[in-house]
Amino acid sequence: MDRQNFLCWRVALLLLLMPCGLQCMSVHILSEQPVHVIPGSALVLKARIEHGPLEEVSTVTWEREPETGIAPTRVTLATCPGNSFKCVGTRPKVRVNVEQQETTLQINEYSRADGGVYTVTVTDHTGAKTPAQCIVREYEAVNHVSVSINVSHSSLVCGEAWGTDPRFYWLHERATITKTVGNVSPDGATLSVTMTPICGHFTCVVSNKLGYSSATYTAAPCETEGRGTTAAIVCLVLLLLFGGVLAFLLWWYSNAHRQRQAQSQISFQAML
Ligand SMILES: *[C@@H]1O[C@H](CO)[C@@H](O)[C@H](O)[C@H]1NC(C)=O
Repeated sequence: MDRQNFLCWRVALLLLLMPCGLQCMSVHILSEQPVHVIPGSALVLKARIEHGPLEEVSTVTWEREPETGIAPTRVTLATCPGNSFKCVGTRPKVRVNVEQQETTLQINEYSRADGGVYTVTVTDHTGAKTPAQCIVREYEAVNHVSVSINVSHSSLVCGEAWGTDPRFYWLHERATITKTVGNVSPDGATLSVTMTPICGHFTCVVSNKLGYSSATYTAAPCETEGRGTTAAIVCLVLLLLFGGVLAFLLWWYSNAHRQRQAQSQISFQAML
């Protein structure tokens, strides 16, 4: 290995050890997106700031704009000088702080109007800006649950309109689905029915953090089973009735017999 080659390797190694070199400001919002917030609760967004050894954070700003609209207007929620705890322009509901490598935005009593695209921008000492964005939406309750049947595939499909993070759960005649009734798809929304013929009530329950809602698909009544039970009950009732009548007749007959015997004894004594 000649000397030039060796130098090259050393430079490459140095660059590897210092992957961002001297300019590597980066900002990441530490939340899974989009962020869903329950109205009335607090929205908390944290962002991690990383920079090279020679860089300095001069300002951090938090802004918000509507997610949709023809000309969305951006509002500044807070402007904070780097490494300071004093932010300017904060509103009553808004708290922002900046620490060494982190900045936090907190909005108390979240309402629908607080939804939108949030942007945190870090400006370095040279005036270069590095932004990061995050979508924030309201956490919505489960809405309009429906069950439809796919006749060709013997399956029931459960639908839900716009609730956040819906979880699906199926019931057949108010009991948990067993293998003899059908199989639920991994996402829970589809029930492949294995029972033939399809009968009874199939209920899909959809829930999330705010509650649940359900819908029921009603197939033909489960005939054989239903008729069997009814017949058994009718038989039992008839048997009991018949037994009762028989017992009464026996009692009545023996009573009458005894009375007649007693009467004949009395008349016999009178004759004497
Ligand atoms: C029934 O389900 C199959 C498979 O999931 C699908 O390809 C088909 O389009 C569905 N039919 C109807 C009418 O929804």
